[in-house]
Amino acid sequence: MTWSETSRLRPKASGTTVKVPGDGLLISIDGPAGSGKSTLATSLGKRLGLDVLDTGAMYRAAALLVIQHGIDATYTSTSDEKVSSLIRGCSIEVGGEVLLDGIDVTSAIRTQEVDMAVSGIAAIPDVRLELVARQRSWIDAHNGGVVEGRDIGTVVAPDADLKVFLVASDEVRIARRAAERGMPADSSLSGVVQGLIGRDRMDSARQVGALPDAVRMRTLEREDNVLIVDSTSAPAATVLDTVVAKMKEMRLIDAV
Ligand code: DC
Repeated sequence: MTWSETSRLRPKASGTTVKVPGDGLLISIDGPAGSGKSTLATSLGKRLGLDVLDTGAMYRAAALLVIQHGIDATYTSTSDEKVSSLIRGCSIEVGGEVLLDGIDVTSAIRTQEVDMAVSGIAAIPDVRLELVARQRSWIDAHNGGVVEGRDIGTVVAPDADLKVFLVASDEVRIARRAAERGMPADSSLSGVVQGLIGRDRMDSARQVGALPDAVRMRTLEREDNVLIVDSTSAPAATVLDTVVAKMKEMRLIDAV
């Protein structure tokens, strides 16, 4: 089966004029788990009338597929070719729901088992090649959009009109992830949530498509179309306003 994607056209918010430089307005949002990427991507997409792609959901669906086939790819590279060929042959649709070979896996990709497997799968170079190609096809097919992940502004779409990088303290990220999973606030000590920090380290240390570290971030910050936002103590609405203000300053959008 081949790749396909779900159209998620949204009406343009009234009063917002989106200028379309080149082939379409494209905003990348990168950051670790719990930094507020999905919240920002959803609200920005709605505000600007742009489609949104959660690339983490694609890696999660790929990890689920590997688990379903009983392949243990967590600590070994011997199964890398098997894993990547399996993923090349599957269909992943990310829209309102996430469909893996046509089956709704929206909830199934948000489990502890997938959490534990996904960083290993996402570190396989051939898996990234395949999913990055699908993400670029999505951007072409949707004429831009808001795309969130770890390597969007650096690898998938380094020519994005605005590249947002979100950062937040470990404590806040852990608390947000616990809330997302319906766990009590004091679950920050649980293995499940603590695992998030370890997975972030894997996502930052891998050879390809790594989340930029603090040093790389300081270099990126010098680019005109890069915005680094610390969401540790900023409410979601403030983060959105900061991004919209930057877009106005860059003349990517008119005054709202
Ligand atoms: O954003 P998330 O927690 O749903 O991402 C799931 C995993 O996928 C996480 O380990 C990071 C990885 N990922 C990636 O390597 N590259 C992306 N563009 C998006 C996610």
